[in-house]
Amino acid sequence: MLKSKDLLGLRDISAEEICLILDTAEEMKNHLRKSEKSFDLLKGKTLVTLFYENSTRTRTSFELAGKYLGATEINIAAATSSVQKGETLIDTGKTIQALKTDFIAIRHPMGGAPALLAKTVNCSIINGGDGMNEHPTQALLDMLSIREHFGSLKGLKVAILGDIKHSRVAKSNLFGLTKMGAEVWIHAPKTLIPKGFDELGAHIASSREECVEGAHAVMGLRIQLERQSGGLFPSLSEYSRFYGINPSLMKYADKNAIIVHPGPVNRGVELTPSLIDGETSRIEDQVTSGLSVRMAVLKLLNEYREKNSL
Ligand code: CP
Repeated sequence: MLKSKDLLGLRDISAEEICLILDTAEEMKNHLRKSEKSFDLLKGKTLVTLFYENSTRTRTSFELAGKYLGATEINIAAATSSVQKGETLIDTGKTIQALKTDFIAIRHPMGGAPALLAKTVNCSIINGGDGMNEHPTQALLDMLSIREHFGSLKGLKVAILGDIKHSRVAKSNLFGLTKMGAEVWIHAPKTLIPKGFDELGAHIASSREECVEGAHAVMGLRIQLERQSGGLFPSLSEYSRFYGINPSLMKYADKNAIIVHPGPVNRGVELTPSLIDGETSRIEDQVTSGLSVRMAVLKLLNEYREKNSL
């Protein structure tokens, strides 16, 4: 059983809870292989997706997860809502609560926005990415795809290369993977490595070859041009030449190594197209893992809500 009504990040949840979510997601993924994908586990429950930033994978998979579990699901896009008239996040949350909503999946540009909402409303809040803070369901789906390939996360080396400074995905993966017994190695231009990442348990490699040496999973992160004020590296082509993941670099990795990327990918920048589309890529599988993880999170939070009469 999960220990909270909300899923705000992986910093504060236990290895046992992560394991429970991954095991439940694996069951969901097996179920999704059947032609009949629907359940009625959340019949009569309501999920609202509240996205203040763009999304393809996260929002769509939350919506489908709710639908496949039998919930009523609606989306509020901040760009076309009363947020544009100056309504605060808390007032928006209280309005959604008054509509008898059980779950809110939220993406917000400010770190901590989902936690603020979670304190204010009785609905279960699921963080779909908050600023540069966390993106827990992304890290869970990455872990699910990696675990499926290797059978376990314990003892694995995961190399993360790219824009780590602006990445909520890197942070959630660092918390999650280390709790599950994996090592996380990172490499990027110094300007894209956040302070204190080593104190959180990351190994900071001095070269991309050292980062990838013996790695079981190699994760590229998107260069987040929208979060950069500029001047962090000279150009995308130089980034790709000196920091990109390409087939020559992958020769340093474990012989069974896989390529993962949260998407969307800047083709030819952080990863060469041959790796994105190649046999070792798990990028499409990660999208299916995302649907499975979000179904699992909704199911488990619903169990918490029922047990605690919320
Ligand atoms: N990985 C991820 O969060 O993708 P979207 O921005 O498309 O949701």
